[in-house]
Amino acid sequence: MKVFQIQDDWGFENLRLATRPDPKPGPGQVLLRMKAASLNYRDLVVPNRGYGSFTGTLPLIVLSDGVGEVIECGAGVGRVRIGDRVCPLFNQGWIGGEPSLERMTKTLGGPLDGTMAEYMVLPEEGVARVPEHLTDEQAATLPCAALTAWSALVTYGDLGPGSRVLVQGTGGVALFALQFAKLLGAHVTVISSSDEKIARARALGADAAINYSTTPEWYRATREITGGRGYDHIVELGGEKTLEQSLRCIRPGGTLSMIGVLSGGRLAAPLGLVVTRQVRLQGITVGHRDGFEAMTRAIAQHRLEPVVDRVFAFEELKEAMDYLKGGRHFGKICIRHR
Ligand SMILES: NC(=O)c1ccc[n+]([C@@H]2O[C@H](COP(=O)([O-])OP(=O)(O)OC[C@H]3O[C@@H](n4cnc5c(N)ncnc54)[C@H](OP(=O)(O)O)[C@@H]3O)[C@@H](O)[C@H]2O)c1
Repeated sequence: MKVFQIQDDWGFENLRLATRPDPKPGPGQVLLRMKAASLNYRDLVVPNRGYGSFTGTLPLIVLSDGVGEVIECGAGVGRVRIGDRVCPLFNQGWIGGEPSLERMTKTLGGPLDGTMAEYMVLPEEGVARVPEHLTDEQAATLPCAALTAWSALVTYGDLGPGSRVLVQGTGGVALFALQFAKLLGAHVTVISSSDEKIARARALGADAAINYSTTPEWYRATREITGGRGYDHIVELGGEKTLEQSLRCIRPGGTLSMIGVLSGGRLAAPLGLVVTRQVRLQGITVGHRDGFEAMTRAIAQHRLEPVVDRVFAFEELKEAMDYLKGGRHFGKICIRHR
């Protein structure tokens, strides 16, 4: 089968189109014919052996997110059937419950082989069905970006109608956060570097928006939006350069979901604000299968459609990664496998 893998040594220059033997499912496993994949910011970090404790071995098939069709089941498989369209779960070991090291370290696209392969063999416990109304590319966006936003706002959040939410940027996680927060009846503010993207975010349901390039001290502009009360929940994707502003516009007792470190990963914020505002700083690492299944039920019920910016062919993975690096995208970048 055709794969895209980091070969021989770490580094983008070692990302290669290659072939591997077609896999066969053993007992309790399923064979997927992959249909589509999607890119996350993480996929730009893994080839350079990012993430402090990353201990993957090479060669490594890249990308975490995708969707495929079950074409063969090993002995004893009962959760899914041949013909089902399923997503491989990002956290293969986390079915539900509390996070633990064991549950959170078996992740696809590093250290485990990812979704840039024609076929994947996975334990039946490591896949979950996807809503029928989604295209393959839309379904491929769910395991990492969508579940992260869902975990922040639903599994570990407590949003309700009228809650005030702030979302940073218009990338993959951000637009899912916008869509889920609207589905829960919240009032959503989006900050973005582009007026054109702001117009598109408003069309998706954003109630308020601030251009953080032209208004660098954006937290001041939020006072009017929240009537001075502050946000109930902030989806923190910027990290180092945005955290301080987030702490200045969250309401006392609000939740700050720490998800991304797009502007740097060091702590450079007045911690006193966390204390005096009694802020809940909630780290998020994607989520578990129970969360994924709750999310796909909600997506199916509301016929929610993930935002796909652009689709590339399998062989165009490097072009897709360059496009992601360029930051012009709005929502998700996908790969069509065939
Ligand atoms: N913890 C987890 O489980 C988890 C899961 C998924 C992703 N993440 C992390 O979350 C972050 C976003 O991932 P993604 O895949 O959604 O990325 P993405 O699709 O590449 O989104 C990037 C967008 O973020 C916005 N942005 C960049 N710098 C910003 C800043 N300083 N302030 C505000 N917005 C900024 C930009 O939006 P505009 O162009 O509109 O300005 C940019 O287009 C990454 O750090 C990623 O590693 C974490």
